[in-house]
Amino acid sequence: RTDATTDTYAITQRLARLRILPGLETEAWTYGGSYPGPTLVSRAGRRTVVTHRNELPQPVAVHLHGGHTPHESDGHPTDLILPVGWEMRHPYGMSDMNGTGVTTLGERTYTYPLDQRAATLWYHDHRMGFTGPSAYRGLAGFHLVHDDEEEALPLPRGERDIPLMITDRSFAADGSFHYPALDPAWGTPGVTHHWMEGVLGDTILVNGAPWPVLDVQRLRYRLRVLNASNSRIYKLELDPQPPGGDALVQIGSDGGLLERPVRHDALALAPAERFDLVVDFARYRPGTQVRLVNRLGSGTTAEAMRFDVSGAARTPADETAVPARLSTVERLDPRRAAVTRTFHFQRSEGVGWTINGMAYQPGRAIATPKLGTTEVWRIVSDFHHPVHVHLNPFQVVARDGQAPGPYDAGWKDTVDVLPGQSAEFAVRFTDYPGRFLLHCHNLEHEDMAMMADFVTR
Ligand code: C2O
Ligand code: CU
Ligand code: CU
Repeated sequence: RTDATTDTYAITQRLARLRILPGLETEAWTYGGSYPGPTLVSRAGRRTVVTHRNELPQPVAVHLHGGHTPHESDGHPTDLILPVGWEMRHPYGMSDMNGTGVTTLGERTYTYPLDQRAATLWYHDHRMGFTGPSAYRGLAGFHLVHDDEEEALPLPRGERDIPLMITDRSFAADGSFHYPALDPAWGTPGVTHHWMEGVLGDTILVNGAPWPVLDVQRLRYRLRVLNASNSRIYKLELDPQPPGGDALVQIGSDGGLLERPVRHDALALAPAERFDLVVDFARYRPGTQVRLVNRLGSGTTAEAMRFDVSGAARTPADETAVPARLSTVERLDPRRAAVTRTFHFQRSEGVGWTINGMAYQPGRAIATPKLGTTEVWRIVSDFHHPVHVHLNPFQVVARDGQAPGPYDAGWKDTVDVLPGQSAEFAVRFTDYPGRFLLHCHNLEHEDMAMMADFVTR
């Protein structure tokens, strides 16, 4: 629904039986009966209001990832929607919540001002301690924000602007999702859980389908790639490469358009990161099968999908282009930061995955940034930790004291800090006082408490 100032959506979260594998049904937790959930579309600066009704058997919390959203609608892990028909109990089954969350029964309305640039956002479950299994069972969808600046560019659009949600899953013999932490052995003392480092699946799904094939014309396509996997990191490449390489022309990042396109042969992609790409299939001969391969995978995880290039000898006229200049990206100046904070993302003996040695505790603020100021956050990492900040995007300014890496351009909200590495980013907190999250977006790390609140004021 739409009126002069607001776009309105209503989503029912419910169980659905989906056909993902041939001949089998998979029971999924869905936004509105599909996986991924419906793609929501908003206009920058126009309010979008989404009412979620929870008909699932478990509490949920909905987070708009990449949204510049006030605390009340940010989907904090302690702000739960209890299922329809439950009784109101608060705090829900957890003793350490300090009454910090706001729980609602059956429904909740999230208001997104979306006062931000055009970008590829996504929404997903964020329930405390259960984000991994909830997302794994299907609770994720795209939310695209458009604006005038982006629409004035001659980029591919419509049918040739395609969001691609890449995930890995495992299935039991009956077709159900196999999430190992839901095994009865979970929590058994003395049993070593190999998924401590994160849950990996053996089947790659793109937009919910295993290894799909997309027929493409010999034209440019915009591919908005999102790694929505719980913990898998990909290195994606087109195989074969077109003559001359540089097949993947990056035009945008988590937070929208880059200033200038960046050309890649391969793309490293950690959980929650988005890369907005343009691929020109006119660079291939008619009839070529182009596989999107994963150089970090093997066997069934070595390929994500395939593009079958039209066999027609004549290429239709392509009215699109990738301009040399896409946008203006203001540079945050790290030397003008009000404060530099260091966060150690590490495994701590006897605690688990921690930030500065602490497991998550709602209500304890790890930082209290002042609105209107820029801060530098330095992340020191002992593993691959895709570090995510709610509320405001950031700019990577250094890795190990050197220049940022090839995938760090533009406004980011998630950055993969490599094992043994440190990374620094500059973040400006603009508006909305309240409690927000800093966490690892490896969802198993997150669920095992690698998360912290920060409070803006
Ligand atoms: Cu996509 Cu706090 O997460
Ligand atoms: Cu987020
Ligand atoms: Cu992590």
